[in-house]
Amino acid sequence: MKIDGVPYRSVWVDPEDGWSVRIFDQTRLPWTVEILRLTDEKQVAHAIRSMQVRGAPLIGAVAAYGLALALRRDASDAALENVAAMLGKTRPTAINLRWALDRMLRALRPVQAEGRAAAAYAAAGEIAEDDVETCRRIGQHGLPLLQAIAARKPGKPINILTHCNTGWIATVDYGTALSVVYQAHDAGLPVHVWVDETRPRNQGAALTAWELGKHGVPHTVVADNAGGHLMQHGEVDIVLVGTDRVTRQGDVANKIGTYLKALAAQDNGVPFWVALPHSTLDMMVRDGVKEIPIEERDAREVLETTGQTWDGRVETVRVAAPGSAGANPAFDVTPARLVTGLVTERGRCDASEAGLLGLYPEFAAAA
Ligand code: MRU
Repeated sequence: MKIDGVPYRSVWVDPEDGWSVRIFDQTRLPWTVEILRLTDEKQVAHAIRSMQVRGAPLIGAVAAYGLALALRRDASDAALENVAAMLGKTRPTAINLRWALDRMLRALRPVQAEGRAAAAYAAAGEIAEDDVETCRRIGQHGLPLLQAIAARKPGKPINILTHCNTGWIATVDYGTALSVVYQAHDAGLPVHVWVDETRPRNQGAALTAWELGKHGVPHTVVADNAGGHLMQHGEVDIVLVGTDRVTRQGDVANKIGTYLKALAAQDNGVPFWVALPHSTLDMMVRDGVKEIPIEERDAREVLETTGQTWDGRVETVRVAAPGSAGANPAFDVTPARLVTGLVTERGRCDASEAGLLGLYPEFAAAA
């Protein structure tokens, strides 16, 4: 995707030195576009934990490069296993992190230490390329959903409600749910996006709104609790979100608040679609509510908020009453029964085991 006409991805190897890894510091967006240089696995772990990089597919790709950085210094078997285990603990909910590290381990265990670092860069590069192509295809497979809405209301805006950030900065490029939006917009469909602000970290108000603005997509930021009201008044044609983990029975973990949007969507007959790459599937888990670990983040993210003052300073201020405690579960699980369908790089399917196995028959044998 482009920032002011210049094409970027969300992670890349520095072309000047050929080994360090570049990312955008997403904690500084939308106020400052700052590119960070990561040179070792500790910086990578910090970037993932502190959410300088975030979004399920992106943290997988960045962790893969983290392993490559570590193997430049020490390519022993022990280093490979220890660094993969350390990076795997940086965030618990998005399965893409484990998917990427497992793929790296499978590729690198058979390689002799002398060749491991080079093989790791190649494997991380493949993960990144896979994500780009996968996300492009998700957009293509989601496009007919929006074309069908356009056909029903010619000349009128297609109102899409989305939660959190599922755009190109949450992946290596294109995005998941927002890939559908971008491709529809580029195809000339009159899309308009209701952007949930997505407290506590405001990925919607800060990141999704920034991305959509840069791409020229009409959008409006709304408070997280506005979605139900908008649906009751016919202002939402479709809810389109991403996910951090989809289980075998089609349960969907995503940013906290997604479940409430799904409930409101069902009550109002609004279709609720979830876009995901194959790396987000966890076919070993069935009941998402019981089995998906939900990240509990620092309560200060709820008690405080960060924004820009009228004279351009970025400040964090407390919004809760002094002395009050906070709690910060960062994700929730939407049961499959509330999900109209899934959009993947292989096509669309029901949020069910049968639906998923129809598109991914290779998982039929997995428990
Ligand atoms: O905590 P975050 O910002 O990493 O959460 C991201 C989301 O919840 C996205 O919706 C999800 O990763 C799927 S789309 C890439």
